[in-house]
Amino acid sequence: MAVTALIVAAGKGERLGGGIPKQYRSLGGKPVLRWAVEGLARHARVDAVRVVIGKGQEELAESALEGLEVGKFIAGGEERADSVRSGLARISGAAVLVHDAARPFCPPAVVDRLLAPLEFFDGAAPVLRVGDTLARATDTLGESVERTGIVRVQTPQAFRVGALRDAYERWTGGIPPTDETTVVRAAGMSVAAVEGDPMLEKLTTPADWARAEALLAVRFIPRTGMGFDVHAFAGDGPVMLGGIAIPHPRGLSGHSDADVVLHAITDALLGASGLGDIGEHFPPSDPHWRGAASHLFLAHAARLIRERGGIIDHVDCTVIAEEPRIGPHRNAMRSRIAEILGIESSQVSIKATTTEGLGFTGRREGIAAQAVASIRMDLAR
Ligand code: CTP
Ligand code: MG
Repeated sequence: MAVTALIVAAGKGERLGGGIPKQYRSLGGKPVLRWAVEGLARHARVDAVRVVIGKGQEELAESALEGLEVGKFIAGGEERADSVRSGLARISGAAVLVHDAARPFCPPAVVDRLLAPLEFFDGAAPVLRVGDTLARATDTLGESVERTGIVRVQTPQAFRVGALRDAYERWTGGIPPTDETTVVRAAGMSVAAVEGDPMLEKLTTPADWARAEALLAVRFIPRTGMGFDVHAFAGDGPVMLGGIAIPHPRGLSGHSDADVVLHAITDALLGASGLGDIGEHFPPSDPHWRGAASHLFLAHAARLIRERGGIIDHVDCTVIAEEPRIGPHRNAMRSRIAEILGIESSQVSIKATTTEGLGFTGRREGIAAQAVASIRMDLAR
């Protein structure tokens, strides 16, 4: 059965506040929506992911989901249910997982639990038993509510697409439904209750956001890697340093475009993630990489880290050279490196030193670079 994940991200996030809608805000270095999409996209049973966004959210969504395959964004509506309807009209596949973008962490086991019952049921939803005492209340407490048999219903929720479309067509309820089980149940269809997960808690209020940040803080462990590279001067300039062509009478010789800064940072990132070194990934003997632009190496290292759920926090590089002078190009290098890595230039540091005329750099025979990368790897992956 082909499964499409339909992620609704067209809300305004008013209860959380904070400027931009919550699904586009960065949580632990990654937009909430990206967490949600990646979580479902990497599940083996999920064939396609489609995202419903609000009016005017195109740019936010594009930048949050850069590089991910989600097809064309679907325009949402006034209420969550309108957004789901609009998504349902545009997806294919026999089964759908309708999911809130505001629930960034979906454990894969939940998806397994949801899809299994679709053979016998029209839908399935993850639920959590209620632990607290329940009561009606305004300013003061009213009567208690018996909690036996009461559950909280989360998303993703799995449905046979036909059944869900059918149920929405028949929905006549006045209050907009806040999930799909409400609609499907009202149409008299059957919904299996499977075990939910506290990780699926929705980000609704500032307290939820703080809890999610705390969760990430323990889930991710920091790692550090170092890199070092040297290239000799040979031939004419310019020299490529940090992805920038710096005018200079002499150029650097060597593998690819001989950008020592990008090579050192690439190695530092590979080191931090324990993924080997630059020579292993891009052998100098391979003609494919001869004269290659080094930003490809750097982007590749960043992609490997992200594919493993890692976050790049910071890179710091020291250029060791008598010439050319680095200072005037420092900020251009920082911006370019940040662009290649998909981080902010405030997360990139470039420093330079001479060696007081000593050694090969002092004799102006070449340029060296050292780099340190700080990343966080996801323990849950
Ligand atoms: N949603 C949607 N279209 C709407 C309203 C909500 O796609 N018209 C989405 C939200 O983006 C979110 C999910 O439905 O991923 C759950 O809704 P909720 O938590 O209420 O998010 P918001 O509506 O954005 O927040 P608020 O109600 O606080 O404004
Ligand atoms: Mg809402």
